Amino acid sequence: MTDQNTVSADPNDLDAILSVENPYVDEAVHAVADNCDAIFTWDYEKGARPALNKLYEKAKHSQWNGETDLPWDTDVDPEKLTAQVFGTEPMWEAIGMNVAGTPLASWGSAEWVKMHMEMQNWSLSQFMHGEQGALICTAKIVETVPWIDAKYYAATQVMDEARHVEVFAKYLDTKLTGHYPLNAHLGMLLDDIISDSRWDMTYLGMQVMVEGLALAAFGTMHMITPDPLLKQLLRYVMSDEARHVAFGVLSLKEYYAELSDAELFERQQFAFEAAIHMRDRLLSQEVWDRMGVSPKVAIMASKRGDNERLEDPFQMMLFSKIVPNCKKLGLLDANNGWLRQKFGEIGVIQFEDWADTSEEFLDFDAVNADRAAAAAESA
Ligand SMILES: [Fe+2]
Ligand SMILES: [Fe+2]
Repeated sequence: MTDQNTVSADPNDLDAILSVENPYVDEAVHAVADNCDAIFTWDYEKGARPALNKLYEKAKHSQWNGETDLPWDTDVDPEKLTAQVFGTEPMWEAIGMNVAGTPLASWGSAEWVKMHMEMQNWSLSQFMHGEQGALICTAKIVETVPWIDAKYYAATQVMDEARHVEVFAKYLDTKLTGHYPLNAHLGMLLDDIISDSRWDMTYLGMQVMVEGLALAAFGTMHMITPDPLLKQLLRYVMSDEARHVAFGVLSLKEYYAELSDAELFERQQFAFEAAIHMRDRLLSQEVWDRMGVSPKVAIMASKRGDNERLEDPFQMMLFSKIVPNCKKLGLLDANNGWLRQKFGEIGVIQFEDWADTSEEFLDFDAVNADRAAAAAESA
């Protein structure tokens, strides 16, 4: 990791978190050195890793078309949808905020509705940028992973991620009211992942950490949104993402079994720094800036309890996939439970016994479920 991107000594120092400058705002393109060798393998035995082979076959079967498989003719009225979900008058308590004594306390209907519309623009923009990160990372995995079954599978994921970038960009452009640039914390994380020379770090950063959080975040938005187009879009994206996380967990489980404690410690540190970057990205400081409210004031109003941590139970739920996957990889327990303790310090360790995604991905296959239902209907 570069010095600039290293998490500060106190991961709960809110002033330090908010003072990170965003280098991505004024760029047209962004270059990151990826520091890797492209690896050929001469072992072409397909199915030497049966679990990866099964995922590959499943992925070939579950491809969908972002242009034709989604109801793009749906009329989307962001203001109406916002009001449907969050009401037209401020209900701070219902979203877990205590705004007494802050400028938010004097907000009326207009600001309340606008803030939620901006949050939606912001969230989907970050999803879109994250998807481009996934596109680049999986292209890198095709090059760097030494196993043919993994190269095959990763190649299908490159196509999946291209489709995800495409559908989020189209939804933002044609249905919502504005874009946001890449969040600085998410950007630093993507830069760290892409620039690392070790092939497994691309997996750990992208497939386990970023995609694990995305899967939980998409699930939450899918549950909340009344828009049938966005619901369907997220349902299909999630059915791909669950496979992606499973790919990461299955591949790393094999590789991490061979690593020394010192090597595992580097992976534990990387996973913790990734978790911190993701937690910090979720503070959505750009939205508060755009609404003319100090991000620090708004973030402190979201904080529950009087401890020194940046805990927001709504946001912490987003770690419900990451923590069990880290456990499955042995990262919580290695080196006397270093990562377990660190996850405890940021308030996410309670998810360790939730389902891990290497077992869960079949439940998410919405594409095949819809096809089977359509076939049954026409029979
Ligand atoms: Fe994706
Ligand atoms: Fe993905």
